[in-house]
Amino acid sequence: MTAGSPIAPVAVDLPEVLDRCRALMRPAMEVAVGGLHPWVGEMAGYALGWCEVGGAPAAAAPGGKGVRPALAVLGAEAAGAPGRTGVPAAVAVELVHTFSLLHDDIMDGDATRRRRPAVWKAYGTGPAVLAGDALFALAVETLAAAPDGAAALRRLSAALADLLRGQADDLRFATRPWTGRGRVRPEAYRTMAEHKTGALLGCAAALGALLGGAPRATVDALDRAGRHLGTAFQVVDDMLGLWGDPAVTGKPVHADLRERKKTYPVLAALDAPHPAARRLAELLESDGDPAGAAALAEAAGGRAAALEGARRQVAAARTALAAVPLRAAAAAELDALPAFLLGRAL
Ligand code: IPE
Ligand code: IPE
Ligand code: MG
Ligand code: MG
Repeated sequence: MTAGSPIAPVAVDLPEVLDRCRALMRPAMEVAVGGLHPWVGEMAGYALGWCEVGGAPAAAAPGGKGVRPALAVLGAEAAGAPGRTGVPAAVAVELVHTFSLLHDDIMDGDATRRRRPAVWKAYGTGPAVLAGDALFALAVETLAAAPDGAAALRRLSAALADLLRGQADDLRFATRPWTGRGRVRPEAYRTMAEHKTGALLGCAAALGALLGGAPRATVDALDRAGRHLGTAFQVVDDMLGLWGDPAVTGKPVHADLRERKKTYPVLAALDAPHPAARRLAELLESDGDPAGAAALAEAAGGRAAALEGARRQVAAARTALAAVPLRAAAAAELDALPAFLLGRAL
């Protein structure tokens, strides 16, 4: 692939397991969202791809991929329980994820999400904040009602604390320089990404296993695996933000650069012993042409380094999973997710 060329805009097929788990979760999700204030419920339905602004059923449902609910259902199945045991966890983590996206798009100033105007663009910032808050509260209520709700809530709260910590670092890193003493090191990025994204993926898998009656060691191993997978997922998300096609991702391209977000491919490119790294640094410090910066980041090896970083995280996830006994069918489906996640960036 040549420098600066977009990531091939093939719509990667969602693995069957994502569809299966989304379908399993959908009735409980509808019941939960149906209990919200009708206006807030409409915003939630819009965010989830169920309806248009005004409440009419959505023509095409661009919703989310459902990675977190799948991890919850597979976590329960990996523990030897039926997938439906993990459904309260699946609903809770997807509600938390949706809440985090509503607020994240406001924080990041991103106007597009899931191929449509972001909720704050479609309904206004105040309403989007409110809808996010409502989804958060609904997640807590849903999980509290599950068997073993107290233990599940403790795990969810810990993941939320990490997610918020990661979002805080993400926002603070944007105020730091690209180079020099105050620069963000790849190690600090990894911690931030594990917090803002990995914690919830880990929590999803762990909660499914917890509700499925797994022993503590299995729950913890699934948490660790999900955290590594989530860190890889964030690196891939960063790659798509630099070289992806908005028609496929449904999100803006180059927005991270414009906001001076410290993404892994750019940090890796800046650290590379390549002449393009210096030109990239100059361009970034002058807030120049984002498309040019994306091309230089690739020329300096940022894309290859990011893919390698994501692969290392996936390997660590597999190591964590291999350490505990899991039901074979669920373990095989968990094993198929990384290929899909990385495939989005190839
Ligand atoms: C986007 O997550 C936000 C990140 C944490 C990278 P997803 O890529 O899972 O978003 P949807 O749910 O599929 O839209
Ligand atoms: C998303 O991070 C993490 C959370 C929402 C907690 P990003 O801001 O990098 O994700 P996108 O690219 O907007 O989906
Ligand atoms: Mg964002
Ligand atoms: Mg963000």
